[in-house]
Amino acid sequence: MTEPDAPGADARTDGRTASGDRPVLVVGGTGDLGGRVVDRLLARGKRVRALVRPGSDATRLERLGVEVVRGDMLVPESLDPAMRGVSAVVSSAIGYSRRKKGDSLRTDFEGNRNLVEAARRETVPRFVLLSILGCDLAPQVPHFWAKKEAEDLLEQRGVPFVAVRPGAFLGGRSGGFLANSVRRGRVFRMMPPGVRITFIHPDEVARALAEATEESIGLNQRIDLGSDRPLSTEELAQTLTAVLGRTVKPGGSGTLHFMHFFARFSKSMRDYSAMFDFFATGKYIADTTLQAKLFAPVPTVEDAARKMVQEAGLG
Ligand SMILES: NC(=O)c1ccc[n+]([C@@H]2O[C@H](COP(=O)([O-])OP(=O)(O)OC[C@H]3O[C@@H](n4cnc5c(N)ncnc54)[C@H](OP(=O)(O)O)[C@@H]3O)[C@@H](O)[C@H]2O)c1
Repeated sequence: MTEPDAPGADARTDGRTASGDRPVLVVGGTGDLGGRVVDRLLARGKRVRALVRPGSDATRLERLGVEVVRGDMLVPESLDPAMRGVSAVVSSAIGYSRRKKGDSLRTDFEGNRNLVEAARRETVPRFVLLSILGCDLAPQVPHFWAKKEAEDLLEQRGVPFVAVRPGAFLGGRSGGFLANSVRRGRVFRMMPPGVRITFIHPDEVARALAEATEESIGLNQRIDLGSDRPLSTEELAQTLTAVLGRTVKPGGSGTLHFMHFFARFSKSMRDYSAMFDFFATGKYIADTTLQAKLFAPVPTVEDAARKMVQEAGLG
């Protein structure tokens, strides 16, 4: 673990050092998607710094040569040193995935607010927020709304930002539930028959986030991210059948009913069940016009399905 640059070493104080010399801070770099972002940034030749909670395992990051600064989104004063002198911040960190005992939506609301305020104090020139597709349309889904509030706060506080809003991950750790159902020849049903949503592979999300740290991507925009077309559960089953060369059927509604039932007893289940209700409205669909312009090419759903199958060892 190394110390961040001292305040006096901040390149912005003399304006001569190119932003490429300054590190990009990743918040959430120990996570599944966050780890992919770190890999993409390093592949682009960036210096990477990561904000990692005290006690969390940073071995992988350290092995990759990432500068690790300890801090916690829920401890405001721990954030400024990590943000000092960076060319950009990328945040994919969340509490709603409940990786650690005690994690909660507090991270998504209060923690994100703390990050934005620290970025303002440190005059961070670019804040790339991993948001969620349709977050502004879903006040009833707490983890969606937390992203919408974070986007708005960045704008209100004058922190230059790029908000990247992907659809549902086809692949990666959070797509593991889906991969497990495919292993049994079924596609876990996330929406009623015929309703389509946007899917994307997490590697494509990481690629866009890394690109969004570059000056070529204009500031203060909210960018939907998806594949070439949305899919219903039935169409996803057909796509996976074609990719795998064996029959995958659309699943029944059992898991959704189960989730709705347990939503009465668990805050976390309520959050997810509200999300599935939102999916059912048919509004979780990306407009990929900006994505095509900024992060071309827009991947196909077949690309995403192939990667998911390969990654999960389903082939
Ligand atoms: N899954 C989907 O379909 C979907 C769709 C749209 C958008 N997204 C977005 O994609 C991202 C998924 O990220 P992921 O897969 O990397 O999540 P993850 O594996 O659950 O990792 C969460 C990360 O947040 C960090 N973190 C949690 N609380 C923190 C705190 N208080 N202070 C600092 N760091 C903290 C964790 O660090 P520790 O190592 O300390 O635990 C970890 O690095 C999220 O932003 C999510 O909203 C997902």
